[in-house]
Amino acid sequence: MVAWGMRLAGRVLRVGESQTINVARRARELRESGASLVDLGAGEPGFSSPRSACVAAKGAIDAGFTRYTAVEGPADLRVALARDHAARFGAPWTGQGDVVVSVGAKAALMEAVLALVEPGVEVVMPSPCWSSLPAQVELAGGTPVLVPLDPANDFRLDAEPLVAAFTEATGVVIINSPCNPTGAVISQSTLGLLVEECARRGVMLISDETYERYVYAPKRHNSVAAFAREYGDSVLLVGSFSKSYAMTGWRVGYALGPEPLIRAMTAVQSHVTTNATSFAMAGALAALEQGEDQVQANVMHCLHNREQLVSALADVPGVRCPEPEGAFYAFLDVREMIGERFETTDDLAGELLEQAGVVAVPGSAFGVEGHLRLSYAGSFGDIEEGARRLRDFFTDLAASAVIVQSAPALD
Ligand SMILES: Cc1ncc(COP(=O)(O)O)c(C=O)c1O
Repeated sequence: MVAWGMRLAGRVLRVGESQTINVARRARELRESGASLVDLGAGEPGFSSPRSACVAAKGAIDAGFTRYTAVEGPADLRVALARDHAARFGAPWTGQGDVVVSVGAKAALMEAVLALVEPGVEVVMPSPCWSSLPAQVELAGGTPVLVPLDPANDFRLDAEPLVAAFTEATGVVIINSPCNPTGAVISQSTLGLLVEECARRGVMLISDETYERYVYAPKRHNSVAAFAREYGDSVLLVGSFSKSYAMTGWRVGYALGPEPLIRAMTAVQSHVTTNATSFAMAGALAALEQGEDQVQANVMHCLHNREQLVSALADVPGVRCPEPEGAFYAFLDVREMIGERFETTDDLAGELLEQAGVVAVPGSAFGVEGHLRLSYAGSFGDIEEGARRLRDFFTDLAASAVIVQSAPALD
């Protein structure tokens, strides 16, 4: 056989595979070897998809809705999405030319980036952030400009440092609220400032609102949709059925925004995926029209789990668990543990997995050391057990550190 050195494109070598997928792979190996794991690593809810969606999708298959659809998605779903955003945020979108349905929010984001970014274009985004956001910019040949947020302020988004990072080359800003991994929710005033500044400078603001329904009172979700009537040329909203309706595997997301951009994204989609799966979109429409009770139940479930996790970790020495305002992630501050006991947060996450059987994602997957992302969208039992194991693990670590420090010198 002739040895053949495959030459992969540089863009792939630059981004690598998502680190959150690496963690899932290692956990799978351990589980297959019989370990009892509590998975706080998954970036998805453990709930079932709405019954209405399942019935509608099966019905669509039986009715022969199994062919290519319009690239931008069926008109009924686009119009329903536009109406939903009009009703909740007063948005001006109609579903005619200003909405595209995609293969998850991930594809919509990639299409937007491909439509707007090329070599030389800088894309400003806060850090930490979901790892695919900078990776997509890299794939498009652009330059991600990561603006570090302040851990002392629980990584809340502030307009000023983002705007300070703007240069002549800035073409796009990408924000994500509620945020994966920090759970931070953007304030109305910060969003307003960003929207105005982007509009003034001719920069497109992409708002990834994938977790929009998971916001816990007294906080509420602030959407770019509320600014689209005045600043419609400068804002793109990306959303998804994945998390709100527990429909991650269905792969249905969407974008609402200015017609020229939606047209360009649709052109990209026509060459990459054509359309989201026909019967999955039929299910998504049913979820949108009939799934509200389930959304509310999912959010209440996560609210309960959030209290469970945060209170279990409240007085554990060496760690700090800020109460997340949204999404279904706690971003545990373990900076005190890094440097002496563990060299990196990845090492700590490895030890947590091997010793306590808890899967957590190290902050390095999101561009920041000294934090662990804990997902609390699992079952009540899993979160209770996970919280107990975390508490025991960190309490033991702190106790053993005290013993090491107070041990008498041997020389
Ligand atoms: C911040 C963020 N945006 C977008 C997505 C993609 O979601 P979808 O399943 O709709 O592609 C995810 C998925 O984890 C996410 O965390």
